Amino acid sequence: MKNISFLFLWAFVVFLTIQSCRHYPADIIPLPNDTTNNDTSNVKKHPCSADTVYYARDIQPLFNAYCIGAGCHNPPSPKEELNLTSYSTALSSGKIIPFNGAGSKVYKSMNGTGGDIMPPTGKLSADKIALMKKWMDQGAKDLWCDDMVGPCDTAAVKYSTTIAPIFTNNCAGCHGTSGGVTLTNYAGVKTVVTNGKLWNAINHLSGVTKAMPNSTTKLSACNLRQIKIWIDAGSPQN
Ligand code: HEC
Repeated sequence: MKNISFLFLWAFVVFLTIQSCRHYPADIIPLPNDTTNNDTSNVKKHPCSADTVYYARDIQPLFNAYCIGAGCHNPPSPKEELNLTSYSTALSSGKIIPFNGAGSKVYKSMNGTGGDIMPPTGKLSADKIALMKKWMDQGAKDLWCDDMVGPCDTAAVKYSTTIAPIFTNNCAGCHGTSGGVTLTNYAGVKTVVTNGKLWNAINHLSGVTKAMPNSTTKLSACNLRQIKIWIDAGSPQN
């Protein structure tokens, strides 16, 4: 009996040692989870590096624009069982092989070197196809960076000049007046501010129905900060 408990203890110590020796590549950057956004230093927390392809910034927008639509690579029944609406479903398809763009079905279809050419409406520009390959060759990672350009203006935050443009640029395509959430007018925005859903959704807080603008992308740290300042001021229609 004594020997058995010793064995368990020993196994546990070995387990702990292995866990602590594990390390992750430095370039796997988690999404920022600073939900207070009180940082006024204007410093980019995860600056973009010029030679890196970022899934959230570079790749998901291409999938959204060219691969998603009625009867395409999205639910309810993704064509070829390839669901390109999120990073995790894209990778789990097996049609994107990390570090091997040339061998990846998704790249081959886009490049016209394997099966039907995709999208069926016509080949994308050479730079877009090259970007896709580069992303796969760099390991098809889910990297995120803060592409905020210039200093963050937190002094004169107003609905009309600061907040409304953020929603127009990042959200209006999906949140016009026809769905459950309207972000193209003040009344619609105010509704989700008041019920708390807006702040939870854009910060990817747990319990939220959907992380916005999607599970792998966040608004820039600057935009989140501006929205926080405006909400804290009582979300005025100014
Ligand atoms: C690609 C489409 C798309 C984009 C872009 C998008 N959303 Fe959404 N959003 C949805 C869908 C779909 C839902 C769930 C159905 C609904 O309520 O309309 C949703 C739900 C929400 C909700 C409700 C969440 C909840 O817990 O009920 C909020 C708030 C929201 N979005 C805010 C935003 C904001 C802010 C942006 C821009 C930063 C944004 N969305 C961008 C598609 C999108």
